[in-house]
Amino acid sequence: MANLKTKVMGIEFKNPILAASGTFGFGEEYSQIYDISILGGICSKGLTLNPKQGNKGTRLWETPMGLINSIGLQNPGVDIFIKEELPKMKSFNTIIIANLGGNTEEEYLEGISKLNNTDVDLIELNISCPNVKSGGMAFGVKSDIAHKIVSKVKKNCNKPLMVKLSPNAENISEMAIACEAAGADSISLINTVKAMAIDIKKRKPVFDNIYAGLSGPCVKPIALRMVHEVVKSVNIPVCGLGGIMSSRDVIEFIMVGATLVQIGTSNFIKPDIAVDIIDGVSEFMDIEGINSLDEIRGII
Ligand SMILES: Cc1cc2nc3c(=O)[nH]c(=O)nc-3n(C[C@H](O)[C@H](O)[C@H](O)COP(=O)(O)O)c2cc1C
Repeated sequence: MANLKTKVMGIEFKNPILAASGTFGFGEEYSQIYDISILGGICSKGLTLNPKQGNKGTRLWETPMGLINSIGLQNPGVDIFIKEELPKMKSFNTIIIANLGGNTEEEYLEGISKLNNTDVDLIELNISCPNVKSGGMAFGVKSDIAHKIVSKVKKNCNKPLMVKLSPNAENISEMAIACEAAGADSISLINTVKAMAIDIKKRKPVFDNIYAGLSGPCVKPIALRMVHEVVKSVNIPVCGLGGIMSSRDVIEFIMVGATLVQIGTSNFIKPDIAVDIIDGVSEFMDIEGINSLDEIRGII
C-alpha cells in the first residue's frame, strides 16, 4: 500500500487529507459514522474570541452544483473550545488544527494567546470569512491589510501558522506573497466564493446579508487555478481546497503543487467520503507505481 505520510511545518500527518473548517464541526458527529483517526487532520469550526450565535434567517441554500452558506461563524468561543471541545478532539488521534477568525486585530491576538497554551498542533488563520459584517474577509481582500494582521499574529503565535485565503482577494498571488513575507508558515485556499441567491416568491435575496459564500464542486476549477497560481508565487507549502469530491480531485490539487488538501462540502453529501478519498488516492498510487506524492507534486 502506498505511503501517504506527509511531514510539513514540522508536523507529521498520516496523510495529506484534512477535514475543512465549518464542515466537520469538532469531529464528534462524524466520529459516530466512521473512524476519523484515518484523517490526516481536522480543522475546527471557525473560532472567535467570544461565543457567536451566527447569522439570522436562511443560512444554507443548495444550488445544482454547490452550496451557499451564511452561517456567520457560529461557535462557542475560544475558551469553551479549549475546555470542552479540544480534549475530545485530541482523543481522535489525528492532527488538530484550530481555525481562528476575528473582527478586530485585538480579537485575533487574544485568541492566539489563548490557543498558544494548548495542545492544538497548528493554527489556521481565517482572514477570509465572507459572512460576517465587519472584519473577517476585510482582512483577506487587500494584501497590505493582510500583511499587517498576519505579521502581528505570527509574532505572537508559538504554533505553526497557516493562513487561509479568500478567492475574493484582489490579487491572489500578491495576497499569498504578502502572507509569506509576514511570516506565514503555509497558505490554505480557497474559502468560499462571494455569491447570492433569490427567493422569487418573496421577491427578495435569500440571505439577510444578501451575499453569502459558495462552495462545493462548482468552485473546484477556480480553486485549482488559484492553488496553481499561489504555488508558483510562494516558497511555503500550500494546502488546497474547494470542491474536492473524489480521490481524482485530490490528485489534481497535488499535481498543481498542494502539499495538503481539505475536504469540505462533500462531507455533507457523503459523511464518510474521506474513507473513499483516502483509499482512492492510495489505489491510484499503487496502480500508477507512485511511491510518494512528492513524485507528482507540482508537476503541472
Ligand atoms: C457551512 C460551511 C461553514 C464554513 N465555515 C467556515 C469557517 O468557520 N471557517 C473557515 O475558515 N471556513 C469555513 N468554511 C469554508 C470551508 O472550510 C471551505 O474553505 C470552503 O467550503 C471550500 O471548500 P469546499 O468546496 O470543499 O467546501 C465553511 C464552509 C461551509 C460550507
